[in-house]
Amino acid sequence: KRRVILDVDTGVDDALALAYAVHSPELELLGVTTCFGNVTAEEATRNTLAVLESLGEGGSGRIPVVEGAKETLRRGEKPKYSRHVHGEDGLGNALKTPPQGSAQPGNAADFIIAEVRRRPHEVTIISVGPLTNLAQAIERDPGIVPLVREVIVMGGAVGVPGNVTPYGEANIVADPEAAAAVFAAGLPLTLVGLDVTLQTLLPRTQLDVWRASGRRDALFLAEMCEHYMGFYESCYPGLGGCGLHDPLAVGVAVDPSLVKAEPMRVTVVTEGEETGRTVGTAEGEPKIRVCTAVDADRFLKHFLSRVV
Ligand code: BDR
Ligand code: CA
Repeated sequence: KRRVILDVDTGVDDALALAYAVHSPELELLGVTTCFGNVTAEEATRNTLAVLESLGEGGSGRIPVVEGAKETLRRGEKPKYSRHVHGEDGLGNALKTPPQGSAQPGNAADFIIAEVRRRPHEVTIISVGPLTNLAQAIERDPGIVPLVREVIVMGGAVGVPGNVTPYGEANIVADPEAAAAVFAAGLPLTLVGLDVTLQTLLPRTQLDVWRASGRRDALFLAEMCEHYMGFYESCYPGLGGCGLHDPLAVGVAVDPSLVKAEPMRVTVVTEGEETGRTVGTAEGEPKIRVCTAVDADRFLKHFLSRVV
């Protein structure tokens, strides 16, 4: 089993990634860390707990949830949330009752450090929100870099345009300095960016399949996705569905053969109108693995067979 920490800013597609990860026997979830991003860090924690509880993973002794960064490390800017994409509550306005449980005391960056130190060369970190928690962990304890098994990041747009600006993808734009630090750290890192995640789409027809199943967890997913689907239909007409960004990062942890990746050095633009742009070059070190192609059909089948 691959031991995993999932770092999220829950968000509709983060919620789908959580369900996919919880239902994947290849993965052992050591914990879920939360960050500002789609919503505030507090709301990301609440949403994460609510989703885990809907999956039967609530209560004591279950997967720990640890809250992290409320804002960027260095920018000092007020975060811009993505409620227009993910709904007022971040879960497509489908959250009817608050979770019963609460976060474990402590901080996400310290949790990451402690888990990596406890299990050298075993921990995979899947980050599907801004990279603030991971950057903070590396800053506090650079000694963890050679002890991490792998980092899989949903973020960036290397060969395609961005989604929040013509240049930048949301998770990188949210904290470009954090992303720059993580990409330059020398970690064994796989970047799952818009280059591949805009090819892995959830079709609208799936929402009807989930509704028709009558299952509570499936109904929750369908309701959650309705708003997110609407955003994609108005912003990307003709695309044919909504982006399964964060689930694809989980898919790559379960089955790396779903993607093709090329080694590149990736830098991040941190100033001016291109802020958040991820620039990949064949020269220079350190290199990370940038996903450039995906078997979208195989991924979608796998994802749908597990998410509920
Ligand atoms: C990423 O941004 C967030 O809105 C999504 O949850 C995903 O992690 C896509 O650009
Ligand atoms: Ca996310």
